Amino acid sequence: MSTPSLLILPGDGIGPEVMAEVVRIIDWYGDKRGLKFDVTTDLVGGAAYDVHGVPLADETMAKAQEVDAVLLGAVGGPKYDVLDFSVKPERGLLRLRKEMDLFANLRPAQCFDALADFSSLKKDVVAGLDIMIVRELTSGIYFGEPRGIITEGNERVGINTQRYTESEIRRVAIAAFELAMKRNKKLTSMEKANVMESGILWRDVVNEVAADYPEVEVGHMYADNGAMQLVRAPKQFDVIVTDNLFGDILSDCAAMLTGSLGMLPSASLGAPMENGRPKAMYEPVHGSAPDIAGQGKANPIACILSFAMALRYSFNEGEEATRLEKAIEKVLADGVRTGDLLAGEGVTPVSTSGMGDAILAALDASL
Ligand code: IPM
Ligand code: MG
Repeated sequence: MSTPSLLILPGDGIGPEVMAEVVRIIDWYGDKRGLKFDVTTDLVGGAAYDVHGVPLADETMAKAQEVDAVLLGAVGGPKYDVLDFSVKPERGLLRLRKEMDLFANLRPAQCFDALADFSSLKKDVVAGLDIMIVRELTSGIYFGEPRGIITEGNERVGINTQRYTESEIRRVAIAAFELAMKRNKKLTSMEKANVMESGILWRDVVNEVAADYPEVEVGHMYADNGAMQLVRAPKQFDVIVTDNLFGDILSDCAAMLTGSLGMLPSASLGAPMENGRPKAMYEPVHGSAPDIAGQGKANPIACILSFAMALRYSFNEGEEATRLEKAIEKVLADGVRTGDLLAGEGVTPVSTSGMGDAILAALDASL
């Protein structure tokens, strides 16, 4: 097979600095494990707007469609708040998700032992937590029509539409059941079937798919109760499947259970390509964090763990993914901390590249 290709889109804010550490990890795999990647770098978000006047150039979109996987940093920043909605940095990200048809967004929330104290919840509630949120990513209220701001009489009306077809629900449900089969065979679906027709359909279709997975224990929860349960007793969950908007909110909530938003990776997967690999984009769950951008303070772990997910889900290198995850676990156990992970006094934070150095050293030690 030809050398696998990666498109790297560092984006805005802390995106470029955390992605720089990922590039060092990629190089390590090329040098030490013979895993070479053909890497191209391009612009997305505000960085693309500054050059092209749009948050994602057509040529970049075309490249994203061709490569084996896209790695994205983060988009957005206060500088771009004034832009028209249609060219805001986030539109670049949403265009990638939509046009690549990345319908299954995997957002694992894992609490590293060394960080259980950093959670805002009690240690015993989160220690050992390992859940996977599967968020539908290409439909629902994020994309539904009609949408817009119209004028009715003498006032403005903001409109968005929650809309799901059966097939959209079915394919993400199948992705979630497949994951559940590889994990603990437990799946919780979250919607608002008590108030939304789209929620009733969601529940129906999940139950239809469940018939093909008799080994999986399926539960349904209203999303508001799900949010409450996530902070009350998160370890009751294993795989959670939910729509685009609920998934956005519940995954931020789940992320914080683990101590820091700076720790959580994600994979957005679509249908298999001709070479059998899924269409895929990998990105940290955190945003562009403009308040600390450019200062070398950001935690690169979420972005590095996103590359680990790429190794596992795009390149069938599960063992190498585990090697990288173990290296990060070791570094954290050794007490290496970026600023976001410092709860107590007397610990000096390492810089973004300092964290990269420590992870590379742990990778070397793993050989
Ligand atoms: C996320 C983000 C995005 C979303 C934004 C940046 C468009 O919050 O990936 O969770 O709402 O999906
Ligand atoms: Mg979000």
